[in-house]
This record gives sequence, structure tokens and C-alpha cells, in this order.
Amino acid sequence: MRPDPLSYLTSDLDSLKQQGLYRRLRILEDEQKPTTRFDRRQVVNLSSNNYLGLTTHPKLREAALDATRRLGVGSGSVRTIAGTMDIHMELERRLAAFKNTEAVVVFQSGFAANAGTVAAVLTKDDVVVSDELNHASIIDGCRLSRATIKVFPHKNVDVARQVLAGLPASQRKLLITDGVFSMDGDVGALPGLCALAEEFGCIMMVDDAHASGVFGKNGRGTIDHFGMHGRVDIQVGTLSKAIGVLGGYVAGSRTLIEFLYHRARPFLFSTSHPPAVAAACIAAVDVLEQEPQIIDRLWENTRFFKSGLAALGFDTGLSQSPITPVIVGEGALAMKLSDRLFEEGVFAQGIAFPTVARDKARVRTIVTATHTRDELQFALDVFGKVGRQLGILQ
Ligand SMILES: Cc1ncc(COP(=O)(O)O)c(C=O)c1O
Repeated sequence: MRPDPLSYLTSDLDSLKQQGLYRRLRILEDEQKPTTRFDRRQVVNLSSNNYLGLTTHPKLREAALDATRRLGVGSGSVRTIAGTMDIHMELERRLAAFKNTEAVVVFQSGFAANAGTVAAVLTKDDVVVSDELNHASIIDGCRLSRATIKVFPHKNVDVARQVLAGLPASQRKLLITDGVFSMDGDVGALPGLCALAEEFGCIMMVDDAHASGVFGKNGRGTIDHFGMHGRVDIQVGTLSKAIGVLGGYVAGSRTLIEFLYHRARPFLFSTSHPPAVAAACIAAVDVLEQEPQIIDRLWENTRFFKSGLAALGFDTGLSQSPITPVIVGEGALAMKLSDRLFEEGVFAQGIAFPTVARDKARVRTIVTATHTRDELQFALDVFGKVGRQLGILQ
């Protein structure tokens, strides 16, 4: 028998196990809801990005079923050949009107939207100036573009300015930040960065994956929250988190969108969404427009849970959103905390290096609009009990 050429992967996995960082996938055996069943255990679920509870909203469910009955289960092709259906175009029109931009292109995921767009708009002669905590899909897009990558410390507008000041005026520059940072829950330095983009003639891009449906009027995102309409050239949103379905999109000028229709590789070379996905996303935009009280409930729950964790004495970092990290330091301790919480009926995922810095491992919590106060209070009580048992709390 020939030696296994992939045997080195086993040693990598063994090393993760030794460090206590090996992760088994938790299996969801019910719907994605605030209390649900993972791995045969009923738990309060603080690990989904289902901010508004739309994964199970009756209007989205009905829209998906109706589209499946009328249009089938698949689109059968990439968008540029035979896979652009009426319903894809309708979703793009609805999102453009919602985001107050000329046009929108929908991608198969937020990851594809970020990576495909950055790689399409930049060349090896250009520079990208990027916040150090930007999402992996932005980092991959930057690498694929072969542009020079300059990273500035998290939200540090002064250092970003120094970087820009040191670059030739004639060089094309993309300044890029997350709207909400996915592991810390803090909000990007949009006002300062937009001013820099204007001063230095940069393309300004914001990834609003975790802000879509959460920040701004009816969930229009951080650009709306900061009143920066017209000052961000490329806005990315996701349809996979608060919108409750799947996908990502880019909102911007008609020219940008036409360009991406021709040059963004995930758009050109990967099959478009099934009709059910597009229909459910359209229904989600209806919900955002017609039921904004869901977003108010999300923020009421967020305030309640955050203040509860802080009162217990946990380090919750600098979060300004429904993403609240409970930072414990060592990766192995974060995994232990997550496991013990789970045994007690609370699911909050442990996150360690390389997703976050080695000494900033955490469990990450996200409340949703559909959690009840009883569920959140139960979770706080469990956090208190387990935090004391593990010596994280006094
Ligand atoms: C900041 C950020 N951008 C983009 C994405 C990718 O979105 P999607 O899950 O739709 O691919 C994520 C999801 O993990 C994210 O956290």
C-alpha cells in the first residue's frame, strides 16, 4: 500500500487536540431558533447570526415554498448564461431601492461578494488599505487581487492616514473596513475613514455583513446609521445573517454593478441561487420595511443581555452590537467554558486563535429579537454559575 500523502494533516489535527482547540461540529436537529436542539440537547441558542428570527418567519417560509412550486428547486446555470431568473432581478431591484443606491448585484454568499468584488476591482498595481480585523473574505479578496496590502491597527484612523500619505497620489487605493466586526461586535471607524477616502481619493468599501438588518433605519446598515449615504462607493451586505436566508450583495453605482456582472469571478463561474432563496430574501426585505419593531426588540434584548454579562463581571470587550464576546484569554479555557455552558443548556461557541488573537480567546454570544427574557435570564444565570466554577469570575 502506498504511504498516505495526506498523513501530515493527521499531525496538524493531533496538535489541535493537544492544545484543546479541536472542534467537533455541533449538529442542529431542529429549526434555527432561540431555544432548539443541538447534539440531542435542548439549549438556549446564543450562536446563530439569525438576529431577527427570520430563518423561521412564516412570510419567508411561504415565499420560499411558493417559489419552489412555481419555479422549481434550482436555477440550472450561472447568472451569465441561463441562470438569471426574473426573481433574481427583482431581488436586486428591491435591495437597491432599500439601500438607496443605483444598483445591486447578488452573490451566492457574503464571502463571495467580498472576495469576488475586491479581486475584480483591483489589480497588482493598486494598493488596499485594510483594518487588521477585517473579515477573512476581504483578506482573501485582497490576496486574489495581487494588489499591495497595507494593514492598519484596528480602527486606527491616524495610522491609516499615515499609510495613505506615504503612497503616490497617482496610485489607485481601496480603503476597506467591516461595518461591524464579527468577533468583537464593535463598529468600524466609518466617519473618519470616509473623510480619509475623500481626502486621498480612495475607493471606499464597507462590509456590512453584521450590520444589515441590525443598524440604521429599517436595518439599512452602518452607512445609514452614520448618515453617510453617497460617501461609500462599495457597500457589501449579507443575506445569510439577519436576512435569515443565504447570499451576499454589493450595492453601488450602476457602473460598478455592470462591471461586476462582467468581471466578478463568483458571479461568472458559480451557479445562481435557487428561486426559493431569492423569494425568501424578497420577503425578508418586506419584513424589514413593514415590521421594524423586530429590530427594536433585537436592541432591547441586546441591552438586557450585555448589561447582565457586565454585571456578572465578565470582560465583554468593546462591543456596540448584538455580538457580545465573553473574553477569557487562553484558547483552551474558552473551549472549556463553551463546553460547560452547553452541558448546562446554553450554546455559545468558543473562538480561539487563529480566528482571534492567542490571548483573546472567547465565547461569542449573539442574542436575537426572538429570545424571550426568560431565555436570556436563564443564559445569564448559567454564565454566572459556570464562570464561577471555572474561576473566570470571583
Ligand atoms: C464580516 C463578515 N463578512 C462577510 C461574511 C460572509 O458572509 P456569508 O456568511 O454570507 O458568506 C461574514 C460571515 O461570516 C462576516 O462575518
